[in-house]
Amino acid sequence: MRTHHCSDLSAANIGDEVELTGWAHRRRDHGGVIFIDLRDHTGMVQVVYDPDARESFAVADRVRNEFVLRATGRVRRRPEGMVNPDLATGEIEVLGSSLEILNASETLPFQLDEYSRAGEEVRLKYRYLDLRRPPMQERLRMRARVASHIRRFLESEDYVDIETPTLTRATPEGARDYLVPSRIHAGGFYALPQSPQVFKQLLMMSGFDKYYQIARCYRDEDLRADRQPEFTQIDIEASFVQESDVMRLTEGMLKSLFSEVLGVTLPDFPVLTWSEAMRRFGSDKPDLRNPLELVDIADLMADTQFNVFRAPAADPKGRVVALRAPAAATLSRKTLDDYVAFVGTLGAKGLAYIKVNDRAAGVAGLQSPIIKFLDAHTIEQVLDRVGAQNGDIVFFGADRADVVNLSMAAFRLQLGTDLDVVEDRWAPLWVTEWPMFEQNEAGALTPAHHPFTMPACSVAEMRDNPSGAFAKAYDVVLNGVEVGGGSIRIHDHAMQKQVFSALKVGEEMFGHLLDALRFGCPPHGGIALGLDRLVMLMVGTEAIRDVIAFPKTQTAVCPLTVAPAPAGPDQLRELHLRLRERSS
Ligand code: AMO
Ligand code: AMP
Repeated sequence: MRTHHCSDLSAANIGDEVELTGWAHRRRDHGGVIFIDLRDHTGMVQVVYDPDARESFAVADRVRNEFVLRATGRVRRRPEGMVNPDLATGEIEVLGSSLEILNASETLPFQLDEYSRAGEEVRLKYRYLDLRRPPMQERLRMRARVASHIRRFLESEDYVDIETPTLTRATPEGARDYLVPSRIHAGGFYALPQSPQVFKQLLMMSGFDKYYQIARCYRDEDLRADRQPEFTQIDIEASFVQESDVMRLTEGMLKSLFSEVLGVTLPDFPVLTWSEAMRRFGSDKPDLRNPLELVDIADLMADTQFNVFRAPAADPKGRVVALRAPAAATLSRKTLDDYVAFVGTLGAKGLAYIKVNDRAAGVAGLQSPIIKFLDAHTIEQVLDRVGAQNGDIVFFGADRADVVNLSMAAFRLQLGTDLDVVEDRWAPLWVTEWPMFEQNEAGALTPAHHPFTMPACSVAEMRDNPSGAFAKAYDVVLNGVEVGGGSIRIHDHAMQKQVFSALKVGEEMFGHLLDALRFGCPPHGGIALGLDRLVMLMVGTEAIRDVIAFPKTQTAVCPLTVAPAPAGPDQLRELHLRLRERSS
């Protein structure tokens, strides 16, 4: 139907007779001459219809936005002064000789160039229109390039692409499962996989040596901008490897991906232990583009009369930190009040600060609501430790360590943005030496990653002091986003039993895995990267919805297909289900 794509045309085609297809992006009537911006998946070109060509002019007159067209004409140079430097084809235009309307379009629910005024709900309901916009086209094409590069890279390293089931048993990755009721087995449910974790380990036990899969995963959890109920992992597993092997492979893969797809040279990935990351940034996924750091000062606060600081300083589960904000004295009173409210939403009871006007003047050169509670020597020690200079503000957080970490890590990011100190670069890193478990309020242990992660201790140590165990686990973080996580796995039957016992996981859940561990399981390990998150970072958007063709809303709804939808009584009966009265 066409001889060229719209953006194929350039000055080199001047004089050529061409046939083009696409959508009427915009149609303008300039006193008798009709201009149509014709758009296809490659870009746009201007087609001009003169009243002289009566028949095609009449057709052009009927064209409205988003009509589907086939245009024939001759390429010519645009008249002097009409060149559009913003358009790839801006030097030329096509003088239309005929025009066919292949399909009409009703008025769109939102204009493609004014989509941002349309709410997300509307954009997702008419996602096929939203996807016509060039930026959305570009993002999904980038995603395809990323997946393609990853496949080529892993296959060149002898990784074998193997599919694993999506109707399966629960796989614990810390979220709720999506369940699928069985018709044939009354009361039985399949679970959609939260990850292919157990299957990829079984593939190592099957002797495949190196496995990968670009795998769809399902997790019923609270949604955020970087989380969707279904998402895609680049899932990798290999036998006879140590942590450093998996880290080297992953780092090499990301470097080659960025180089080929973005033309970006990623730096070597620094390695931070989890403890160091928490200490310096209060976060297990620090954004290293932000140079601000938390500094512990509990040791200086042991004897102070300021109870807000002294109590957490004395508590082994407490933490007292200072955060130096360079040249922040210019921040308004209102901004400081907003900060207090902001950390308050994250559980902090306050946000003490000292404004440093003139260090040489001692206490007289400082301004602070807490200065009256602290002696001059302590204040000096704190200011020295953080390296405070005139014009700085030093902020403080004191509470249970988890509260301080959560609130001060978020505050650090906000402050970095507000002070405009965030560097414009790619900042990858590894976070290693994770604790094996987290402890919930009730004191029960839950896995920091998943229960198949190899601890860095013996079975006896795992039995005697599980909460003190560290894991052979590693996360890869890019610009403050956790893009991947993995570990060396337990290949020893006794250790796996001991970890299940620490977690109080019934062995019947994973009988198949425990069985397999008895029949010659090789040492193995791997990683999974979130493809959506990776592409989100690479295209520079804020939400993974922007890089998924048909995503769900923040409330896990698809407005396009209207899913989830009720099931009819017959279907429910077949599935042996009866709905409970909905409690309102
Ligand atoms: P983990 O749970 O860390 O590890 O998941 C790996 C990566 O998947 C991405 N991710 C998500 N992306 C979008 N929406 C979600 N809801 C979501 N949840 C996770 C993240 C994350 O880093 N089986 C292990 C991997 C392993 O040990 O090899 C696992 O699933 O980028
Ligand atoms: P107060 O004595 O509660 O008025 O607090 C004095 C100052 O300490 C105020 O600036 C508070 O914002 C701050 N503050 C109170 N609690 C904390 C806390 N847990 N961490 C840091 N600063 C705090």
